[in-house]
Amino acid sequence: MIVPASDLLKQAKKEGHAIGAFNASTLEVTKAILQAAEELKTPVIIETSEGEANFEGYQIFADTVRDLADELAIDVAINLDHGKSLESVKYAIQSGYSSVHIDCSKMERKDNVALTREVVKFAHSRGVSVEGEFGHVGGSSEVHANELPKDGIVLTEPQEAIDYIKETGVDIFAGSYGNIHGMYKDAPHLDIERIRKIADGSGVPLSLHGGSGIPDDQIKAAIGAGICKINVNTELRKAYKESLERNLRGVNAEIVPYKYLPQVIADVKEVVKKKIVLFSASHHFE
Ligand code: G3H
Ligand code: ZN
Repeated sequence: MIVPASDLLKQAKKEGHAIGAFNASTLEVTKAILQAAEELKTPVIIETSEGEANFEGYQIFADTVRDLADELAIDVAINLDHGKSLESVKYAIQSGYSSVHIDCSKMERKDNVALTREVVKFAHSRGVSVEGEFGHVGGSSEVHANELPKDGIVLTEPQEAIDYIKETGVDIFAGSYGNIHGMYKDAPHLDIERIRKIADGSGVPLSLHGGSGIPDDQIKAAIGAGICKINVNTELRKAYKESLERNLRGVNAEIVPYKYLPQVIADVKEVVKKKIVLFSASHHFE
């Protein structure tokens, strides 16, 4: 069944684990994510950024996920990730997304609050949940050849986050707690106490962006402090590209897409399953 992400996250918060939010922009990755969640019998959030949705088509993505999810026993949320404008959020909702993330974190505070409130009004009247962001999470979902940037990272002040959540009415909050998008030569260090203060002070489920490349022990500590949604993109992109390259290599390589792409789906699925097991550490798998 398709549900808003907030339904999944409220439950996860109660149970003390996190739900994976995985980005897709091809049918193979979409299948890999849904099959992984179905095999592990866990709900999942599947999402596209604006760029990914522009490539695949908002309507095509939402319809595809709905069709595939119809055959499954799990709950699935379809999320717009890092929506930057009211227009793209509206378009996603009209296309059938069940959740939206509005990211105006680069704007002045008052503009961020004003736009986020508009999104909340539009989305809530249509049964769609909203994730807001305050304190910009930098980087990009790629494998970076350099080490983590040493400066320019501004961490979210807990009281400012709590005020932002109250003023906007968002269901889910994304902040900057030492996380960054993409994979670097070194690993980030999450500020677990900062996460705990925002989670305890606001009561809403918190989202962790930049989930790729964060060591497992930090992920577990972040979940313990109140993270309920973890976004992963780069590790899936990397697995997809490496698998595709492996399967296309050699003079006698298969040229029939439906014969070599199942292995690509299987390889991406393995990565998704490992993440789901890590995020659901308190959940018992059969
Ligand atoms: O919004 C998407 C995520 O925050 C993905 O971050 O590419 O570091 O996994 P990542
Ligand atoms: Zn993100």
